[in-house]
Amino acid sequence: MKIKAIYPGTFDPITNGHTDIIKRATKLFEQVIVAVAANPTKAPAFSLEKRVELATTVLANINNVTVLGFDILLAKFAKQCDAQVIVRGLRAVSDFEYEFQMAGMNRTLIPDIETIFLTPANKYSYISSSLVREVAALGGPVDDFVSPIVRAALYQKMC
Ligand code: COA
Repeated sequence: MKIKAIYPGTFDPITNGHTDIIKRATKLFEQVIVAVAANPTKAPAFSLEKRVELATTVLANINNVTVLGFDILLAKFAKQCDAQVIVRGLRAVSDFEYEFQMAGMNRTLIPDIETIFLTPANKYSYISSSLVREVAALGGPVDDFVSPIVRAALYQKMC
């Protein structure tokens, strides 16, 4: 069975931790849609267009990945994309409670779509986009956490 998965997030910006999850997902599913949420409640540092552009560039060499921006309810967007699976990353136990709630809500909204969780490599388990932005804003090195193009965008934006 050919399964299409959707990996939603704010990606503000995309980190190596996100890319690690995406690569794992591409081995399991026929197609992976990386869905970049407008998510105005989170007041992202980068515009939606820039976040989509960065993710598209970073993931350009992975064949079965498509990057799309969205500004509607994730449940509706996943349905519109004909996704059968929502992929989310679990970095630590602290992620679990929020993810458990989200999975439950999405199961109620879209019962025919399953949420599955993947864990990133241990070296990425403590990364978050906001932490990377903070390190960059204070002039620290972010080479281990993001690709060179994202690093350049971060320094341009933050410093
Ligand atoms: N590696 C590194 N960081 C990771 C990660 C990984 N593998 N997995 C998650 N993160 C980090 C992110 O960088 C982010 O860090 P930050 O908060 O410091 O910036 C944090 O974990 C969680 O972000 P993310 O995974 O991008 O998801 P999110 O919580 O921002 O989710 C939605 C965005 C839209 C998917 C989620 O809020 C949702 O589904 N909401 C339901 C309501 C809805 O549909 N909203 C749509 C708005 S357009």
